[in-house]
Parts: sequence; structure tokens; C-alpha cells
Amino acid sequence: MNYENIKSLAINSAGICGELEMPSDKSISHRALILGAMSRGATHIHRLLLSKDCLSTLKILSHFCHIEQNNDDITIKSAGWQNFSCQYFTGNVGNSGTTLRLLTGVFAANKQCSLTLTGDASIQQRPMARVIDPLTQMGAHIKSYHNKAPLHITGTALHPCDYAMPIASAQVKSALILAALQTSGQSKIIEKTPTRNHTELMLPLFGAHIQKENNTLIIDGNQTLTATTLTIPGDISSAAFFIAASLLVPNSCLLLKNINMNDTRNGFLEAIKKMGAHIEIDLIKNDLANILVRSSHLTAVKIGGQQIPSLIDELPILALIATQAQGTTVITDAQELKVKESNRIDIVAEQLNKMGACITPTADGFIIQGSTPLTQACVDSYGDHRIGMMLSIASLLVKKGTVLLNRAQCVDISYPHFYRDLARINRTQ
Ligand code: S3P
Repeated sequence: MNYENIKSLAINSAGICGELEMPSDKSISHRALILGAMSRGATHIHRLLLSKDCLSTLKILSHFCHIEQNNDDITIKSAGWQNFSCQYFTGNVGNSGTTLRLLTGVFAANKQCSLTLTGDASIQQRPMARVIDPLTQMGAHIKSYHNKAPLHITGTALHPCDYAMPIASAQVKSALILAALQTSGQSKIIEKTPTRNHTELMLPLFGAHIQKENNTLIIDGNQTLTATTLTIPGDISSAAFFIAASLLVPNSCLLLKNINMNDTRNGFLEAIKKMGAHIEIDLIKNDLANILVRSSHLTAVKIGGQQIPSLIDELPILALIATQAQGTTVITDAQELKVKESNRIDIVAEQLNKMGACITPTADGFIIQGSTPLTQACVDSYGDHRIGMMLSIASLLVKKGTVLLNRAQCVDISYPHFYRDLARINRTQ
């Protein structure tokens, strides 16, 4: 193992207790920055997630508009996408697939922009044909080597699209919406399997018009966006790690506050309820809830099909939960996990099996035999934030010895205060 950023993790928690405010939603933070930059006027964003991924988006956009930052309060002063301009600029997205795919849509459709977007070793392995192909059908000029980053984009006026999504991806859908807004006609995007709908929900806040008829989105071209003010709610994908900790560690009771509730993101909550989780969801507004979780006796579940996009980012932590549930959990139709920040099917299975779990990785998911005690081991996040957080929660269940996590600091990608929050709520023996 190439040791880098090794962390010795908490062992044998005596209970997870107290309350936590969750970090702001990552998907909504990216979109707030992008839509703010594309709008005319001064957009104010409160509670932006200051994680590495969102800061990559902020840094790239600051070449196109003026961005002021006061902690997590951000003001974007922009003349709108109609006045973007750049040449020979290289933007670095770091580890962020959302930044790369959404900004490819924004800039490919903008005839004043010519730039390269690149990122870290993980991003350079991830498939980009899924955005390059439909944008190219709209007339885009994007050059790459084997459809991987770096992407060399020569922005040009695009035709509207009429596109049926072959894979379920909110990043691809959003890239096409952001391009469609800048074309000269009406675009249609057909989505067989629903994916997170933050772009569609946020566009009207910026004065844009987008319609949904059954599973088709209809977007008019040449739309001027107008600056607005918004506050980002907490992230269910970050909350999932502390929900798991509270379910699995005996004598736990934890309140997680101000979490965004959205039907396209609720698959994790539905799955754990089916497994027998003691969880109370207290809606404080129609899209915001406090969640109370208690230690629970869980049973196995089957997850697949249309459920997958609604819990895609929670599958690593759901796999850990399944190792502690009675019976065999089967997860199918999740082949997309292989092309996330890491190959999450193989790495989740390999790392948890090192700790004594019994997980068989399959082509599109996992077969998980529960429940199995977890034991001390030397594990590795492979630089994948969600694997790092999942393994940290797994360490709470180990009764004796030490769990060493390599590349622990990658949690910064979505949850910079993860270890601080974990220390706050964890009663050690
Ligand atoms: C995201 C969409 C999902 C998700 C990612 C964030 C987004 O990716 O896994 O973490 O903000 O649109 P895909 O669109 O590739 O499924």
C-alpha cells in the first residue's frame, strides 16, 4: 500500500448521540454557482458547500464573472452567459464529474469560449462520451483522446436537441439543459428513468422557463437568466453516513437537521425503512426535514431497477449497512458504480471484505451476506470520498484493535468537516 494521509480510526463506539447540521447539498451548490454565473445581475448564495468539488466549480467560473466570497456566503456578479468569453484557458475540475460534465454543456454551446477542461487522475478515467456524443449531435466541437478528459472545447452556436437519454444520468441531462438554453430553438430531452431534478427545479428561480410533460423536458433556447438569492439546504448524501452510524452502533440516537427532501434523492431513506430502520422524518418545509435516527435491528433488502438513480451515491454506505443486516441483500442494475470516482463495486467489496464482511461483487452490484462482525484491518479509500466516509463509519463497529484508513483526507471532496462531526457525536468507551 502506498501510504498517504493515513488515519487511525475510532474503534468500538459506545453510541452515536446528539445533533448535527448537515453540510450543504453538493449537487445544488454546483448548480447555484453555474446558474448564478450564467445569469445577469448579482446572485447571492447562502450556505454554499465549501468542499473541494464545489470550489473547483467556483474557481473556473470566476474567470467568467466576478465572485465575492465571505465564508459560505457568495455573491456572483455577472453579465450573463451572453457575455462569457475566453480563449486558451485551462480549467481544472479536480475530482468533480459534476463540474466537468455540466461546464462542458455550458461552454460547448457558447461561441465566445474556447477552452480545455481537465482534472485529476480519477476524472481522466471517467467516461465522457455520454456528454460529448449528444453535444456533438447538436453541433459541438469537442476534442479528446478516447472520450476522456482533458476535453478541448471550441464553443459554437448549437442546434436545439431532441434526445432520448440512453443512460440515467443527471449530469448528462443537466449538461444538455445548460446547452439547450443557449441555442436558438426548442429542445426536448427524454428521460426513461428519473434522475435528480435539481437543475429543472432551480431554473425557474433564475427566471428561466422549462416544462415537463410526462418524461420529456422541453427547454426554449436563447433564454436570459436573471440573478436571484438562494440558500442551499443540507445534503442527504452526506447525512446517509451519520444515519448509518446511528442505525448500526448500539445505544444511538441522533438528530440531523435541515436536510433537503426531494423525491429523486430519497431512495436511501426508502431502502433503510424497508430494512426496519427506526427513523422519523420531520418535514419543516416542503423540501426540508430534520431526521431522527435510532439504533435498529435490520433485515436484508433487494434493490434495483428504477430505484438505483435515487440512491446511487448512497450505495457504498448501504453496502456497509447490509453487512450488519440479517439475510442476503442483493443490489442489481448499479453498473454505473463502476465509473464513479472509483470502481465502487470492486473497491467497496474488497475493502469491507478485508474487515470480515461477506460481499460478492457482481457486474451490476453486490450480493451481501449479513450479518458479519467487522474486525480491524488496514483499508484504503482509493481517494474516493464516499468510500473514505463509509470505511470510517465501518470502523465504529470494530470491537478490538485499530483500523487504519489510507488516503483518509479525500472526504474533503464533499464533506470537509466529516472527522470533526464524527468526533462530536461519537461516545467512545
Ligand atoms: C450528480 C449526479 C450523479 C451523482 C453525482 C452528482 C449531479 O451522477 O452520482 O454524485 O450533481 O448531477 P450521474 O449523473 O453520473 O449519475
